[in-house]
Amino acid sequence: MSRPLQPIPVDLTGKRVVVTGASAGIGHEAALELARLGADVTVVARSAAKAAATIDALVARGAARVRLAGEHADLGRLAEVRALGDRLATSHPRLDVLINNAGCYPGQRVITAEGLEEAWVTNVLAYEALTTRLHDSVRAARGRIVYTASTMAGDLDVDDLDWARRGWNGIKAYRQSKQANRMLAWAWARRLEGSGATINVAHPGGVRTNIAHRQRGLWGVLNRLAFLTQRSPRMGGDVLVWLAASPEVVGSAGFYKDRLAIPCQWRDDVDAQERLWALCQQQLGVR
Ligand SMILES: NC(=O)c1ccc[n+]([C@@H]2O[C@H](COP(=O)([O-])OP(=O)(O)OC[C@H]3O[C@@H](n4cnc5c(N)ncnc54)[C@H](OP(=O)(O)O)[C@@H]3O)[C@@H](O)[C@H]2O)c1
Repeated sequence: MSRPLQPIPVDLTGKRVVVTGASAGIGHEAALELARLGADVTVVARSAAKAAATIDALVARGAARVRLAGEHADLGRLAEVRALGDRLATSHPRLDVLINNAGCYPGQRVITAEGLEEAWVTNVLAYEALTTRLHDSVRAARGRIVYTASTMAGDLDVDDLDWARRGWNGIKAYRQSKQANRMLAWAWARRLEGSGATINVAHPGGVRTNIAHRQRGLWGVLNRLAFLTQRSPRMGGDVLVWLAASPEVVGSAGFYKDRLAIPCQWRDDVDAQERLWALCQQQLGVR
């Protein structure tokens, strides 16, 4: 499933970009393309070793080493995400692009040492922690925030985010997190209004990545069979690159696949978005 990708006519020399989940899959391809377009890209990976390996892999594929920096954090641990946010805020008082992309699709219900369900903290609270800490830097650059979400979304229950009451199910936990990504982006868009900074949300399509590698049994097999019909990570990452870099993107609060706006069924419920935003800030311990 491939279509030719139109080049994005932009020179990002001097632009500073942070990409989470850059060690693999969609984020890796987006980081590569943004570096090729000239941006100074900070790749965020799970560990220092993975960040170094990511830089080596990107350089081997044509990115210039001088334009790459590595950062690391386990994004499933809020303490590490907070420390990462502090380091990035210091190193990037102006940030042109923040791409919150790292995500997981757990194979079992994991409650972290911090008492949070893994998909929720990695896929949602890590995005929120970084956006909360870095939005001033993005405002300073009149820059762009991109959230990687999905049309595989739904099942959000703010009274049972950690699935203590409902039976845990990997698909539902993933869907819940991806619904929240969109609702929270719309809440951030209101906060960024008039600042010159924007936030948009990407759906990369069904992409041949390792996201489902923890799924077991028949479901694991089906996920691997889906590779037959899925698009390449390069193709999936294109919408992130376009949202991050293209002069065609002028607005905020859009949901895009293949560089085209697509509908979001949670767009109009502002009260629910604001309640969720406040709840996440509370979980992050932000006053
Ligand atoms: N693949 C699809 O069909 C699809 C469709 C729609 C949306 N998406 C979204 O696209 C995004 C990227 O996923 P992908 O498909 O590219 O999957 P992937 O190949 O598994 O990449 C996920 C990235 O996130 C990182 N990550 C996960 N948990 C982390 C943690 N606790 N700490 C630090 N880094 C962590 C991974 O690092 P490690 O390698 O160290 O785990 C990896 O770099 C996700 O937000 C996903 O929800 C994917």
